[in-house]
Amino acid sequence: MTDLTVLSLASECWPLVKTGGLADVVGALPVAVEPHGVAMTRMIPGYPAVMHKLGRKRTLHKYDSLLGSPARILATKHDDRPLLVLDAPAYYDRDGGPYSDPMGRDWFDNGLRFAALARAGADVAAGRAGHKPFDVLHAHDWQAGLAPAYLVHGANADHRPASVMTIHNMAFQGFFGADFFPRLELPRAAFSIDGVEYHGGVGMLKAGVMLADAITTVSPRYAEEIKKPEFGMGLEGLILGRQDRLSGIVNGIDTQEWNPATDPALNAPFTAKALAGRAANKRAIETAFALTPGDGPLFTVISRLTWQKGMDVLIEVLDHLVGLGGRLALLGTGDAAIEAGLHAAAARHPGRIGVRIGYDEKLAHLLQGGADAILIPSRFEPCGLTQLYGLAYGCVPIVARTGGLADTVVDTNVAAIASKSATGLQFSPVSYEALADAIARAIKLYGDAAVWKQIQRSGMAADFSWDQSGRDYAALYRRLKEPQ
Ligand code: ADP
Ligand code: GLC
Repeated sequence: MTDLTVLSLASECWPLVKTGGLADVVGALPVAVEPHGVAMTRMIPGYPAVMHKLGRKRTLHKYDSLLGSPARILATKHDDRPLLVLDAPAYYDRDGGPYSDPMGRDWFDNGLRFAALARAGADVAAGRAGHKPFDVLHAHDWQAGLAPAYLVHGANADHRPASVMTIHNMAFQGFFGADFFPRLELPRAAFSIDGVEYHGGVGMLKAGVMLADAITTVSPRYAEEIKKPEFGMGLEGLILGRQDRLSGIVNGIDTQEWNPATDPALNAPFTAKALAGRAANKRAIETAFALTPGDGPLFTVISRLTWQKGMDVLIEVLDHLVGLGGRLALLGTGDAAIEAGLHAAAARHPGRIGVRIGYDEKLAHLLQGGADAILIPSRFEPCGLTQLYGLAYGCVPIVARTGGLADTVVDTNVAAIASKSATGLQFSPVSYEALADAIARAIKLYGDAAVWKQIQRSGMAADFSWDQSGRDYAALYRRLKEPQ
């Protein structure tokens, strides 16, 4: 029985459109909260990739002008759950990615493209667009950040739905110049320090953080970190001022999609009891990445290739990794300079380092299912999902001690080995020395097959499901609906 309705508004949703972990989370949330009485509807932009995958749909609402361009809100189902799609060809019907053109440059009108999403989402949630009102609007990241502002400044604001703003990444804030404000069709009063104004321009994430009824981020530790300048990236003062509304709820993973016993992307499925299948997956990785076959430790990286992810430090450490007898299979895409550095390392170490530039979901599964350890040297990490997939697949995570990485991986030390609680390795800071040391520790541990297996099994037994977090989100929605 569901008694609470939530509209989840985002720019990505797996499996329709994905550039990172946001899509996985938005895709998984409805299933996570449903057992706790919450009926969640997702709403995303109608990019071509999304429009092509839609089944039966009907028009819920038509705009002659949604911030200047015609648009329709389409209602359909995906995975048996309701999905709303904002079909606005002027904003979304183009080649390229959700945020950037085919050359990788941000779309020139990203502000307007996502203000339109936020406006339409607020209209739907408030019952102004052919759908009955929702109890709660849940806005994800800067792309949905203006939705709480549209609710606060919309008609009938006294009876508006409650709103939740989730920060998946503070590094992307959606900041635009003051000349952009009139395009938003918000009242003049909204352009103030208590509203959408930020450093003289429009701050879309700032607006959401300022005006939402609750703020969440995707791990408890990151919720603490963003109160400091290093992680708050300019919004730390506002976050501190609203900390009574802030909580950290760690992401789970979709354990249907990511189950090593049934994963069709693996050459050989396996379980915690019977890990032997991993060897066949390792062979498949060696072939795919042209690595010299062997039983030595095989590391993987599956990542956006950016400064956030510490990929520059990874490049520095690769000669050392190979010198210690390690090999690396890396899958990623991102900054050109990092890609070039990785190619150079692969050229220096043929058969030891294999690099695949691109986005390949199936290969990501195989790497988790066959590599021995996954390296995640992020400078900051709101939650991180690849360490959770690593835990589930016996691919031991080696992580920087930050954000969700610190919250989800138990470091290996003598006590943790004795109590069988260790699930990976943590290191700090993100430097050549600390990462090199962590890799050396991992290779030494790998040499003790019994201990390594124990770490793998403890990881696989850890709770990375959505159970607790689904309950936490549902409890939050409920508190907002029934204010004390
Ligand atoms: P972020 O969202 O910051 O990139 P996360 O760890 O939360 O980091 O999520 C990344 C998601 O994207 C994971 O599902 C990961 O497997 C996937 N991913 C990242 N890069 C690639 C790639 N090149 N190919 C396939 N999947 C990738
Ligand atoms: C962001 C963060 C990542 C998090 C993901 C999903 O992309 O960088 O840490 O796991 O959102 O919440």
